[in-house]
Amino acid sequence: MNFKKSNKLYKKGLKNLVGAVNSPVRAFSSVGGNPLFIKKAKGTKITDVDGNDYVDLVLSYGPMILGHRHKKVQKAVTKALENGYSFGASTENEIKLAKIVCDAFPEMDKVRFVNSGTEAVLSGIRLARAFTGKDKIIKFSGCYHGHQDALLVAAGSGLATLSLPGSKGVPEGAVKNTLIAEYNNLESVKKHFAEHNDIAGVIIEPIGGNMGVVIPQNNFLKELKKYLETKGALLIADEVMTGFRSKFGGAQELLCVTADITCLGKVIGGGFPVGAYGARNEIMENVAPLGGMYQAGTLSGNPIAMAGGIATLTELRKQNPYDKFEEIGAIIEVILLETAKKYNVDLTVNRFGSMLNPFFTKTKVTNFEEAQTSDTEKFAVFFWEMIKNGVFLPPSQFEAWFLSSALTEKDIKIIANAVDKAMNAVANS
Ligand SMILES: Cc1ncc(COP(=O)(O)O)c(C=O)c1O
Repeated sequence: MNFKKSNKLYKKGLKNLVGAVNSPVRAFSSVGGNPLFIKKAKGTKITDVDGNDYVDLVLSYGPMILGHRHKKVQKAVTKALENGYSFGASTENEIKLAKIVCDAFPEMDKVRFVNSGTEAVLSGIRLARAFTGKDKIIKFSGCYHGHQDALLVAAGSGLATLSLPGSKGVPEGAVKNTLIAEYNNLESVKKHFAEHNDIAGVIIEPIGGNMGVVIPQNNFLKELKKYLETKGALLIADEVMTGFRSKFGGAQELLCVTADITCLGKVIGGGFPVGAYGARNEIMENVAPLGGMYQAGTLSGNPIAMAGGIATLTELRKQNPYDKFEEIGAIIEVILLETAKKYNVDLTVNRFGSMLNPFFTKTKVTNFEEAQTSDTEKFAVFFWEMIKNGVFLPPSQFEAWFLSSALTEKDIKIIANAVDKAMNAVANS
């Protein structure tokens, strides 16, 4: 396997792009070497510019849940293109996608479409403040909620990978209303409520995906929601990653919890730029034009993206792949654990449905601190060996791997073979 063309493009890209990437998670900073440049993808496979094929467990960091270029999505998008790309006025497909989304989340009467997960969350936070008239927001360390200033503290993967404590350019004032709690630790939330009486809500990734996969323990979410109700504060579920992925109704359906405000992204656009935030009527009526909370977007509800989203969610509902995800996820988990045992490598695997990842540590990982006990140098060795053996992984210890409904037994064999080679390399590193 050679990466000649990728390396050449990387050098060329450095001139006019920052680090030759448009999102830092795509840089290979923590695993060494240069980023791969991708030419195309189809089904479970992604192909780089050198013609190397990989089973894709990145899936554009989650959106490609049906695999790449599903024929129904491709058809719907191609048809939409024939009618125009953007109108600055409403279309029927926005209503159709809104209905699919609201039907999936019982607490959601209305939804507003935006263009990314970041926009969805920053709008959801603004809405929580508008509705409650309070300013402070609690977030959990290790959870990432997009790159808005207020939440760019203790923010998981990209920042952890680059070893940045936060971000330059974020003024202190922008984070002064952000309080940090520890994932899976309700006491750390209660402590803030004991000290502050102006907390609008708590934002959480209901299944942590940006510190590696971290699973809520012992009804953490249910207990959190119950507690917030006693305080008149809102639960804001950042389901950008888990929405329509953990279950059709997101992690909330899986965990039997309902959030007050839900933020979505990734899968709802099926690979096109869509985000959304939604809630029950009394909350959403605060959003302009019904209420005084302003939020807008030139390309929001874009017709091509709406067509991609409707086709993706319609097919997803039909396939209902969640049992299959559980089955395949469990198989890959066992492959990882047994191979690690075979080569005497310390490994913890966290998995929830179609999101999983290995941590190179003996420690149980239930929060960001424990995630950071993972040996990232071992991960780097593992990563490159997986690449060389045909499996495309996120180039960071702290990113989740994603499964698509297109995965086949043959793909699992490729994964198993790569894991064997990679674990052997780790053992000898
Ligand atoms: C949980 C979560 N929230 C928000 C975001 C931001 O979404 P986007 O990258 O589409 O702005 C992400 C991105 O990975 C995410 O995982």
